[in-house]
Amino acid sequence: MHKPLHIIILAAGAGTRMKSQVPKVLQTVGGRPMIIHVLGTAMQLQPAGVHVVFNPDVPEVPAACAAYDITWAPQKPQLGTGHAVQQAMPGIPDDADVLVLYGDIPLLEGDVLQTLIEAPTTGLKVLTMDVANPRGYGRIVRDGSDGVTGIVEERDATAAQKAITEVNSGVILGPRKVLVSCLDNLASDNSQSEYYLTDIFSIAYMKGIETIGVVAPVADDLEGANDRIQLAELERRYRMKKAAELMREGVQLADPQRVDVRGSVMAGSDVYIDINVILEGDVSLGDGVHIGPGCVLTNCQLAAGTRVHAYSVLEGMRTTGACEIGPFARVRPGTELMQGSKVGNFVEAKNTSLGRNSKASHLSYLGDSSIGDGVNIGAGTITCNYDGANKHRTVIEDDVFIGSDTQLVAPVTIGEGADIGAGSTITKDAPAGKLTVSRARQVTIRSWKRPEKK
Ligand code: UD1
Ligand code: MG
Repeated sequence: MHKPLHIIILAAGAGTRMKSQVPKVLQTVGGRPMIIHVLGTAMQLQPAGVHVVFNPDVPEVPAACAAYDITWAPQKPQLGTGHAVQQAMPGIPDDADVLVLYGDIPLLEGDVLQTLIEAPTTGLKVLTMDVANPRGYGRIVRDGSDGVTGIVEERDATAAQKAITEVNSGVILGPRKVLVSCLDNLASDNSQSEYYLTDIFSIAYMKGIETIGVVAPVADDLEGANDRIQLAELERRYRMKKAAELMREGVQLADPQRVDVRGSVMAGSDVYIDINVILEGDVSLGDGVHIGPGCVLTNCQLAAGTRVHAYSVLEGMRTTGACEIGPFARVRPGTELMQGSKVGNFVEAKNTSLGRNSKASHLSYLGDSSIGDGVNIGAGTITCNYDGANKHRTVIEDDVFIGSDTQLVAPVTIGEGADIGAGSTITKDAPAGKLTVSRARQVTIRSWKRPEKK
């Protein structure tokens, strides 16, 4: 029988090295707070309980994690990682195994934790990593037979210990009873006067408890972010991982280094994504979707065959058939574009449905509109949807032709097959099948003479 697994996530540190008003664990990687990534990984292990140690003066942290079932353990003052773990212990049953994670290691993956869980020992385990540059990490000191005799923090290490390149990832696992007995012996006689969690290894070793170090296969995934340089490095690596996932799904990326995925992307086959594209939130891309350079897509669903041309910004919209968007289009929430429709350059659409084969090719604003099939919206058409207090709808029925530079003052309906003359300001419903035009008739003043300079 497996013992119940309880996970402690440490998130009370001040994160002073970030020099930020934002608590460290809420700094984002891939558009989401680091702690949310860690919680996602923790949940994959289906633990009996998750306990987050937090600073009660920073309620933003629990607020950001409201979607998760968490036991919150306040730590004040913050006397170090060992002291932090102690704060969570009262909420954990005596027979549990305890896994300690940090809130600032967002790239951590579930399978490496599984390896640690399965490593056989009744004592303490630490997930270690071999790094080229061990600076800032606790060094793993081993005895001749591979046991971990201790973990020495950089600041407290001798020159010889500093040369060790196997370091502490921060991930530690052990039976609650063993952890508690070692934590009880912690002292703060070190360079930072803190209670170091890492000291439990030398304490356990001296007590004759087995202490093992499991080397993680991919060290990079365990790196934490203490400052903004490390944060940017994690972001870069996250980007590369997401790009690799997309390519494995069959997406062609013009350059995997120049696409940012900040959410979850579902993609069909033969999708092409050009450089400098940002995909945020939930994005789904049907077969053969083509995204031009410099586009930003947030929570979008694009049907198979849709082409988004360069520098278009799309949010909360969907296409239900192949259509053309951009270049330089802005499509805002609540917009649905149907098969064969087109939103062209410098066109903004919001909360609008554009029917089959309907086109707004240039310089228009379509807000709160229901546009039927086969409609042509001339350049410079504006739906005047806002009267200063309320928003109103514009309805344009099938096969309507709207001449260029038309203002449609909502609420207004343009009947099926109607033509609207260019330059009209339409304030009343226009009947089906007729030409409606509201501009003044053209006149030529025959007697006109240009004034001359005196
Ligand atoms: C720690 C480890 C080091 C390891 C490194 C890996 C210790 C003493 N050192 O160093 O061996 O190589 O992580 O990244 O454990 N925290 C609290 N309360 C506190 C102090 C810290 O909750 O009182 C939290 C922080 O929010 C953070 C985590 O513990 O999530 C680690 O603290 P941090 O200050 O980043 O430790 P490092 O100096 O990086
Ligand atoms: Mg750290």
